[in-house]
Amino acid sequence: MRLVSKMRRGASIVGWLRRLPIGVAGVVGVAVLVMASANLGAEKYAGPRLIPVELESQVTDDPDAVVGAAAAMAHEQLFVEDRFPSAQTCRTCHPQHYKEWSVSQHAYAMVSPVFTALHGTILKRTNGTFGDFCIRCHTQVGMILGEPLFAPYEERHPVSQEGITCIVCHRVDQNYGKVSGRIALVEGDILQPIYGPLGNEILADVLKDPEKYRVVTEPGVAGRKIHSESKRFFRLTEPGFCGSCHDVTFVNGFRLEELFSHYKRSPAAANGVTCQDCHMSVDQGVNAGYAEAPAAVVGGVPTKSRKHAIHNWAGPDHSVVHPGIFPHNPEAQELATIREWTQFDWEAGWGTDEFEDEDHDEDTFPERWRSIDDRYEARDIIDANLELLEWGMEQRATVLRNGYHLGEVVTVRAVFGGLKFKFEV
Ligand code: HEC
Ligand code: HEC
Ligand code: HEC
Ligand code: HEC
Ligand code: HEC
Repeated sequence: MRLVSKMRRGASIVGWLRRLPIGVAGVVGVAVLVMASANLGAEKYAGPRLIPVELESQVTDDPDAVVGAAAAMAHEQLFVEDRFPSAQTCRTCHPQHYKEWSVSQHAYAMVSPVFTALHGTILKRTNGTFGDFCIRCHTQVGMILGEPLFAPYEERHPVSQEGITCIVCHRVDQNYGKVSGRIALVEGDILQPIYGPLGNEILADVLKDPEKYRVVTEPGVAGRKIHSESKRFFRLTEPGFCGSCHDVTFVNGFRLEELFSHYKRSPAAANGVTCQDCHMSVDQGVNAGYAEAPAAVVGGVPTKSRKHAIHNWAGPDHSVVHPGIFPHNPEAQELATIREWTQFDWEAGWGTDEFEDEDHDEDTFPERWRSIDDRYEARDIIDANLELLEWGMEQRATVLRNGYHLGEVVTVRAVFGGLKFKFEV
């Protein structure tokens, strides 16, 4: 596993600092300081004007203005769904893939306040010349939509907030190579084809049996809308697909991360073991074979069982945000806004019998959480999300355990009063 421990270097910020040229290291160092300060992300952005004027009114601390912006976003959502369907749409028929993805780092790519702080600071310190370099890879959809480079998470489009969402991988039809995440997506509503590992085989059976599955593939017809075709994209199951984002080369040629390049020189690559074989297998981090399950459940009817690639891609990184905000959970999004969730003190026990059985003055709660019923409802969502986070943590522990092994202990010298030994990590 020597390959893997080398790959690991890119993950920690300390590792980053070590590998960056001095100028950039300074910038990142500043970003780390910004992150360390308590008002993470709350600091007003005073850098160059990167936000288009018409969007600037949305960037504000005024809660009313934010609600207005959210309503405008809800309208826009309908329009954007015609180009980039949300993971929530895919979820209706692919609940298992959704669940695994929802707590993955891919789903977290735009949620991460660490990303926002680093990216914002780099923009500021480079007078904006970094452009969309960083953020392009963390939200393809947001950048194609022309969102501002720097904006609060809650003001981004819901599909942009999903980061590396379903269509970022399943609406790609070209082999882009090591492009540092500069890939194009195939646009279109949910009725348009998606790109998968197998192709149309099982989907065709479903489309042939409208009585059983009640799906529609024509616009304007009422019913359960489905992608009319699944095209086999052979690249999806190859390491090069992951390599289009997991090799990061700065505009000045500096190689920030070389995971894919390292992989190409590894024993795994020589033996034909792919990223997918290890990161989507039943035992995260080893080539242990895939699970078997129906890929879709349409209106309660499961499709024929097949290979199931676990959509969690566990790695060392993990969420540091409120469990009402991440993992992505449609019920949480319906119950409260992101800002309201940050006010819900789940750690104090709100919404549990233990807490609610005590006497609490209503005024101690923020407006949104005055009602005890709402607090109980929120608690159910928090519990479901904590359970999912716990599962994600188990996957993470598995991949790390699989990544590091101790070799045999070899005694070098054993004398009275002392023992010298060595082993390989
Ligand atoms: C032989 C199995 C195996 C293969 C093949 C493999 N990985 Fe990994 N990978 C692991 C294990 C185990 C870890 C966790 C240990 C660690 O972090 O060092 C890991 C860690 C990672 C991490 C997080 C750590 C970091 O360096 O950022 C990423 C991202 C990753 N792999 C992506 C990939 C991609 C992309 C490919 C294909 C180009 C790939 N891996 C191929 C087993 C594998
Ligand atoms: C080509 C795609 C790509 C580009 C461009 C890119 N990143 Fe990333 N970013 C990644 C990947 C992949 C990971 C996960 C890496 C890993 O663990 O090895 C990541 C992880 C991160 C994380 C950790 C997030 C967390 O909280 O889990 C931060 C912070 C981050 N990137 C910031 C940046 C900044 C700042 C830039 C611009 C200098 C940048 N990224 C450019 C792909 C990219
Ligand atoms: C109305 C139900 C429905 C919705 C909504 C839906 N799918 Fe599917 N999907 C299916 C069915 C049925 C299949 C066929 C099952 C199979 O291939 O095993 C399928 C198959 C797939 C496959 C496998 C194709 C292959 O080549 O192996 C992928 C990938 C996929 N869907 C992605 C998506 C994405 C991404 C979305 C959201 C943009 C989505 N689906 C939305 C029902 C749906
Ligand atoms: C980072 C890229 C990536 C993202 C994001 C992603 N997928 Fe996949 N998906 C893949 C790959 C790769 C495979 C094929 C794995 C293989 O066969 O080796 C796959 C396979 C599938 C399949 C076929 C059955 C299976 O498990 O192999 C379905 C269905 C599917 N994905 C649905 C989804 C849905 C729904 C989402 C969003 C909730 C999603 N995917 C997000 C990369 C992705
Ligand atoms: C569109 C770009 C993109 C593609 C394609 C992509 N990734 Fe990622 N991946 C990312 C980003 C960005 C992150 C980090 C998100 C964060 O933590 O903020 C990430 C995170 C990860 C992590 C977790 C790293 C950690 O440190 O915890 C693993 C493992 C991983 N990816 C594996 C894969 C594999 C395997 C594939 C191919 C099937 C793949 N990725 C395809 C962009 C991508």
